[in-house]
Amino acid sequence: MVEKEIATNEYTDTRKLPFWNEIVCGESSELLKQIPDASVDLVITSPPYFKQRDYGAGLGNEQLPAEYLASLLPIFQECVRVVKTTGNIVFNLGDKYDDSSLLLMPYRFAIAATEQCGVRLVNNITWVKSNPTPRQFKRRLVSSTEPFFHFVKTDDYAYYLDEFLKDEAVKANGGNKASDKVGKSYFALIEKSELLSEQKHQARLALQQVIEEVKRGEIQGFRMKIRGLHSEPFGGQEGGRKIQMERNGFTIIRIYGHPMKRDVLTTPVESLKSCPHPAIYPTQVVEEFLRLLTKPNDIVLDPFVGSGSTAVAAYKTNRVYIGFDLNPDYCDYARSRIRNTTYQTSFLDE
Ligand SMILES: C[S@@+](CC[C@H](N)C(=O)[O-])C[C@H]1O[C@@H](n2cnc3c(N)ncnc32)[C@H](O)[C@@H]1O
Repeated sequence: MVEKEIATNEYTDTRKLPFWNEIVCGESSELLKQIPDASVDLVITSPPYFKQRDYGAGLGNEQLPAEYLASLLPIFQECVRVVKTTGNIVFNLGDKYDDSSLLLMPYRFAIAATEQCGVRLVNNITWVKSNPTPRQFKRRLVSSTEPFFHFVKTDDYAYYLDEFLKDEAVKANGGNKASDKVGKSYFALIEKSELLSEQKHQARLALQQVIEEVKRGEIQGFRMKIRGLHSEPFGGQEGGRKIQMERNGFTIIRIYGHPMKRDVLTTPVESLKSCPHPAIYPTQVVEEFLRLLTKPNDIVLDPFVGSGSTAVAAYKTNRVYIGFDLNPDYCDYARSRIRNTTYQTSFLDE
């Protein structure tokens, strides 16, 4: 991981930053003014959605989409101001039906932000809720996704893809129960195939060997093709595999390198016992962004921190948090959540 040189206009005295590791109760547009320019590494937040809930401050209760954007964009602009030139901004918004028609509010916001606030949109990451609220609509499907927009100020944004994928590789190759099952279904396919018994024997040996390679982390994965069951490889570069299929009855394609990281995050909707907040996002999703976009001790700001999910994820992974929310009950709850969170020591020596 290469440390980036700090641009000369950047705020470096992070311990003197106002609200360092604090949940502050108040109007975020006012509190943001107290944060110096270019002092925060990551803003990650979920503002009130358009016409979804009344949080008491007006934002989200506007009559028209354009009015909502006119309220939200100045706050977004403040987030852009406080983020370092190497920093990142992640905004999560939900959509809304009006007169049985989807408004596409998140996308209206993202377009306006890129057009008016001097940012680039790196990714639109889709959060897939694996357990959406069950509904029985007769003439439409249940919404089970929300976008997380990743914006940056410059091309020089902090991005720790290697660290991030290293962890993904651990998960894929041994960190979860699925690794015990890796490739096992191919044994059954070999048995039911048309291969001769000696070919089946060789296929089983080759399969066992490649499974061990995955478990040792030497390769990321593999695919096996068995004659009569899978499509034949084409000619050209695949010619060698075609010959292997004909001669041996099977071929194994090893997949090297890091697992591909796609722009999709799948987690359950989080439900916390006695949580007073009606709309929280999972700390697991925040942690993914923290690993990808920050390093330990970086400053993470959430101007709409609600139940404290962002702060909890930051504290757990040894990042500094700053959280704002208008509602004192949510602030109290967020503080108590943080008190009940323990450091993951693995993040201390990253
Ligand atoms: C969608 S919720 C955020 C939930 C949060 N991500 C979580 O996981 O708990 C939006 C939050 O913004 C707060 N809020 C609304 N208007 C605000 C304002 N003007 N200033 C500060 N907070 C505000 C609400 O009280 C609410 O908790």
